[in-house]
Amino acid sequence: MRILLLTHAFNSLTQRLGAELQQRGHEVSVEFDIADGVTEEAVALFRPELIVAPYLRRAIPESIWSRHVCLIVHPGIVGDRGPSALDWAIQDGEAEWGVTVLQAEREMDAGPVWASAAFAMRRVKKSSIYRNEVTQAATRAVLQAVQRFESGSFKPSALASLPAVRGCLRPLMKQDDRRLDWTRDSTEAVMRKVNAADGFPGVADSLFGAPCHLFDVWPEATLRGTPGAVIARRETALLRATLDGAVWIGHVKRPDSIKLPAALAFEMEAQAVPHAPLSDWWRVDTPTWQDIAYEEAGAVGYLHFEFYNGAMSTVQCERLRAALRWAKQRPVRVLVLMGGVDFWSNGIHLNVIEAASLGDGSAADESWANINAMNDLALELINSPHQLTVAALAGNTGAGGCFLARAADAVWAREAVILNPHYKNMGNLYGSEYWTYLLPRRVGMEAAQAIMRDRQPLTAQRALQICFTDACLSGDTETFRIEVAGRAAALAGAPDLADQLTTKRETRARDEATKPLSAYGEEELTQMRRNFYGFDPSYHLARHHFVAKSLPSWTPRHLARHRDLGWEKE
Ligand code: COA
Repeated sequence: MRILLLTHAFNSLTQRLGAELQQRGHEVSVEFDIADGVTEEAVALFRPELIVAPYLRRAIPESIWSRHVCLIVHPGIVGDRGPSALDWAIQDGEAEWGVTVLQAEREMDAGPVWASAAFAMRRVKKSSIYRNEVTQAATRAVLQAVQRFESGSFKPSALASLPAVRGCLRPLMKQDDRRLDWTRDSTEAVMRKVNAADGFPGVADSLFGAPCHLFDVWPEATLRGTPGAVIARRETALLRATLDGAVWIGHVKRPDSIKLPAALAFEMEAQAVPHAPLSDWWRVDTPTWQDIAYEEAGAVGYLHFEFYNGAMSTVQCERLRAALRWAKQRPVRVLVLMGGVDFWSNGIHLNVIEAASLGDGSAADESWANINAMNDLALELINSPHQLTVAALAGNTGAGGCFLARAADAVWAREAVILNPHYKNMGNLYGSEYWTYLLPRRVGMEAAQAIMRDRQPLTAQRALQICFTDACLSGDTETFRIEVAGRAAALAGAPDLADQLTTKRETRARDEATKPLSAYGEEELTQMRRNFYGFDPSYHLARHHFVAKSLPSWTPRHLARHRDLGWEKE
């Protein structure tokens, strides 16, 4: 079928649905929900048999839904209605939640139901539920709804005709509903309220007497203080006491600024707060804020790096490189780089770079420092002669993060993961992280050029098909960890491990003799220098709009295929 994805943004759910539908042979094109007239134009051009709306922030115009079947993905159980579905579910402590696919009609979220899927809630950030459980359930439900539509015989059920509907209409959650009272709220209550607001809109609060929105909170097991007081800092996070404990605040957004690591957003104030470094930085013992951790099981070492949104600043890259260098000295034969739960890595930290331009610094200088730190990290990973290295992708990964992963000997991705191994969307960024070495040797020169040019997201299955990755493992994040551990142990115990390591060293030496890594790096950095310091400001503009979350005024051509001349002949 010809299916139009009508969406507010090309977010990870939209990417996943688009890729899954294409894999099933459907012809998919994307249009951003910008204005009714633009949507009408897209529909006239593409003449879709079905419209799917994975992520909308307003109603579809009647001129469209009255003539075409439009399937809306609502992140709520059957009967749930309103714009704050997940926020309420998290704040109310729902044990089970779901996704409903319903047909657009005059009343928002009240149309007939085509499919639904349920999931058990985890006590985590809203953004994490969205990227994991909601995306998985939405994929199941949309694929079922599309099949039902295609069959031509399915009649969707009107809400009123469904028995024992638990969901109901809920209003927009306001900041009043989210308000924190540091003298009365327990750690659990603070966590629940901030989790329900992450990554948007955050909870309106204040720090050091200045207003800001809070995001990304973590419980602290041991440190205590007067409720409401900021009692410690560690790397990028600040610790604030609650009634019965304390929570680490990872990120904040100050008025007229962007979302930043808390200790950077309040750089001056944070200096006066006592530093609370972890005594053994790698150990995962008690709950606390810890972005880099290391575990060992037999001959396998696991390096975890839980960086918010997968963004890796200069300092984070340097710290991770030091941790990797340390792990390489351990008596292990296999090293697994686990990344974080929601993201493995999304490359250089665009918000921290943008922040440099808001102060006295230079965004170009910070970009340059960040990409060099990423490259040093990638080099550290490529040059691991004594271990087999694995990048285990439990969460999505994009841009430089994909090539950092590819710097490992093997890349194993969870089936639900989306990869975006290209850079051009960020203002024609050329990219570095040794991609010019790492990509063609895996997929071939022609495919490498196509990946970079077409800028399409890859599902984990597709990434495996084109040999970008080495395995696609099914299941949720917990099952994935267990399977990764099993595979890594098998690798470490393989009778031919010594031969594999010898082959690895020989291949590296041969490649180095043919063309040294430093030459690849220099060529890439020559292009990147132009992106950062050259005449063309595209990268700086694109980054600014990305971090400022500017609304798009048109759909990029590589997504809106129906806007290409002669698209039907392709
Ligand atoms: N630096 C800073 N923040 C980043 C980031 C980066 N490199 N990549 C993603 N983010 C942030 C987003 O701003 C968003 O922030 P929020 O918490 O305010 O919502 C959050 O991570 C999630 O991003 P989103 O785009 O909603 O996630 P997604 O899973 O739908 O899409 C990508 C994933 C990778 C396609 C998309 O995030 C992207 O294009 N990132 C930029 C990658 C890049 O160009 N890196 C620099 C070159 S190496």
